[in-house]
Amino acid sequence: MGKKIILDCDPGHDDAVAMMLAYGNPEIDLLAVTTVAANQTLNKVTRNARSVATLIGMHDVPIAAGCSRPLIEEIKVAADIHGESGLDGVVLPEPTVPLEEINAVDLIIDLIMQNPAKTITLVPTGALTNIAMAVRKEPQIIDRVKEVVLMGGAYHDANASAVAEFNIKFDPEAAKIVFNAGWQVTMVGLDVTHTALATPEIVNQIKAIKTETADFVVDLLAFFRDMYKKGQNFDAPPVHDPCAVAYVIDPTVMVTKKVPVDIELNGTLTRGMTVADFRYPIPEDCQTSVAVKLDHAKFWQMVEDAIRKIG
Ligand code: BDR
Ligand code: CA
Repeated sequence: MGKKIILDCDPGHDDAVAMMLAYGNPEIDLLAVTTVAANQTLNKVTRNARSVATLIGMHDVPIAAGCSRPLIEEIKVAADIHGESGLDGVVLPEPTVPLEEINAVDLIIDLIMQNPAKTITLVPTGALTNIAMAVRKEPQIIDRVKEVVLMGGAYHDANASAVAEFNIKFDPEAAKIVFNAGWQVTMVGLDVTHTALATPEIVNQIKAIKTETADFVVDLLAFFRDMYKKGQNFDAPPVHDPCAVAYVIDPTVMVTKKVPVDIELNGTLTRGMTVADFRYPIPEDCQTSVAVKLDHAKFWQMVEDAIRKIG
């Protein structure tokens, strides 16, 4: 029996790789891909999700679109990293995979309510708007979800402000709801994803797979590398989102630490910060963990195996 996940994402270069890892890994049972505005507008990221699904032959997984803006904030997309389309630098196939009529928020709720309790892991890799809306609409999902493993935040690093990460900063109120819902949350933040670098060696290994999907990933990583060099002076691009999927597949790919985490909403300079409290003792009822170290080789092996399996 596979590990059931719902991937809630905003493709996005690294979200696209997260989709591939989730679909191509035999241990994952991908129940749905749901989309949320963040890296680009909802229409664009949803189209990208359907194009990537078409490319990798993912015809058996429902795709549903969710929220088109944050709960309170105005929408501020990340074209500086992902381009105008949200997935610039690659030739995207015309999507043939259909879009579900149901809203992502309702699909998330339905899947959690219909499946046995504690069997579904939510894997958000974009803003947390859809998940927060689902919590508010059907609070029973909180006890039924196995765990939330999200890419977002950081306890030390930052990219959207001096102290905040993009997915959290995009919709801090939604993040506040998700981190405080009462379910287990594992925050796979920039502290580890900034080490998930697609080095030239990794890119060559992917190139050597020689499939349409592998070529697509190579192009995608080349664009991502240039944007990260220009915008943030990285020599190799950090491929954030598949790290969260990798943790669900094999938790030994990361070291995590249980610590309380909350979201700053009011700080003039710190809105959207994920404040992690590493002081001793950790409260017994602590429900949040943060990733602190990534096994780079093991992570990329998983990604490469998934690309190979997709064919
Ligand atoms: C996160 O922001 C997005 O641009 C990426 O897709 C990733 O989810 C990294 O801060
Ligand atoms: Ca993302």
